[in-house]
Amino acid sequence: MTVVKQKDQHMRNLSVDGARLWDCLMEMAKIGATPKGGSRRLALSNLDREGRDLFVRWCREAGCAIRVDRMGNIFARRPGRDDGLPPVMMGSHLDTQPSGGRFDGVYGVLAGLEVVRTLNDHGYETDAPVELSVWTNEEGARFAPSMIGSGVFAGAYPLEKGLACSDTDGRTVGGELQRIGYAGDEECGGRPIRAFFEAHIEQGPILEAEDKTIGVVTGAQGLRWYDVTVGGTDSHAGTTPMDRRRDAMAGAAGMVVAVERIGRETPAAVTTVGMMRVAPNSRNVIPGEVFFTIDARHPDAAALETMDTTIRDVCADIAGQAGLALKISDVTDTAPVVFDAECVAAVRRAAEQAGYAHRDIVSGAGHDACFINRVAPTAMIFVPCKDGVSHNETESATPEDLTAGCNVLLRVVMDAAEV
Ligand code: GLV
Ligand code: MN
Ligand code: MN
Repeated sequence: MTVVKQKDQHMRNLSVDGARLWDCLMEMAKIGATPKGGSRRLALSNLDREGRDLFVRWCREAGCAIRVDRMGNIFARRPGRDDGLPPVMMGSHLDTQPSGGRFDGVYGVLAGLEVVRTLNDHGYETDAPVELSVWTNEEGARFAPSMIGSGVFAGAYPLEKGLACSDTDGRTVGGELQRIGYAGDEECGGRPIRAFFEAHIEQGPILEAEDKTIGVVTGAQGLRWYDVTVGGTDSHAGTTPMDRRRDAMAGAAGMVVAVERIGRETPAAVTTVGMMRVAPNSRNVIPGEVFFTIDARHPDAAALETMDTTIRDVCADIAGQAGLALKISDVTDTAPVVFDAECVAAVRRAAEQAGYAHRDIVSGAGHDACFINRVAPTAMIFVPCKDGVSHNETESATPEDLTAGCNVLLRVVMDAAEV
């Protein structure tokens, strides 16, 4: 045993193979490659299936056993010395935005795979097993709400709700999981996890601006999503006098501008209307119905609650003055998250030991880690991305920074897996 522990000490200085990690990222990015260098792999599409299949193949080649749960979350397990211990888990998502980049989510998944490969290269046995996870529909681009796979796993949503989420064509998560062959039979959640770590690009400008390599993520801001439907009357654009109209588009436009202003006027807030549908969508018909979405975020729960009230009041005022119908439905409400103090400290320590410039940071984006934090000690590792741009085909990160984040992941996982 002493001999093994001495070997372990020596092994503490292991490094991942950054070139191998980069090659895998570029290989995955070919699946759904877009003209401007990004990826489009919408959740549970044929391309998502291809990405999942490639990941599963790589994991099997690395000696991992694969399991899939009822939400289609994939788990690849590398056994531990004491395989009865709860696993140390690493993971993120492989689905992308419609015009997504090559790194959002994919990095956290493939950095985990690179950690497993590095452990294999050195014949390093961890005490606890190590698992990789791929969470279903993190982005929420095809099926709302976002982070539905990790949300069901963590008990934030019932399984039935997760499986019933539907896209704009009425196809459900459950049906699409069956179709692409990823409707697993394992129970979703309800098992202990020793610790969970998610590596991710920052998706914002702070690390790059401050010349830091590692973001030690202490938590994430709160997020609310709403569906808004504004109802008016369809009528002829040429013959309906301006004072006799119930123009849903004009009302919705006022609401969009107001929502954006609330974001600007609330310190630390961000607000976005990212999606809109107009009916009947004909240039010479006054729109009778407009549907749009609101994404509102703030790091402070009370401030988010105030924004909620303001948004509802402002939209109701605009609708009332124009004689329009208004329906606002809640799609998701995720409170601000504080990650586990010990896991966060482990990330900070690992960055320090490896000599990487680092700073603490709060995530502006939502992540699977925000839900897994409810059922396991959790933290995240950020690396910079070019100009802070993400949810964009041109999203970019350097091999050096990606390697650094993966080295931090390796260290924290090795430590957490040790009894
Ligand atoms: C996830 O991508 C988010 O919207 O934060
Ligand atoms: Mn992501
Ligand atoms: Mn994303």
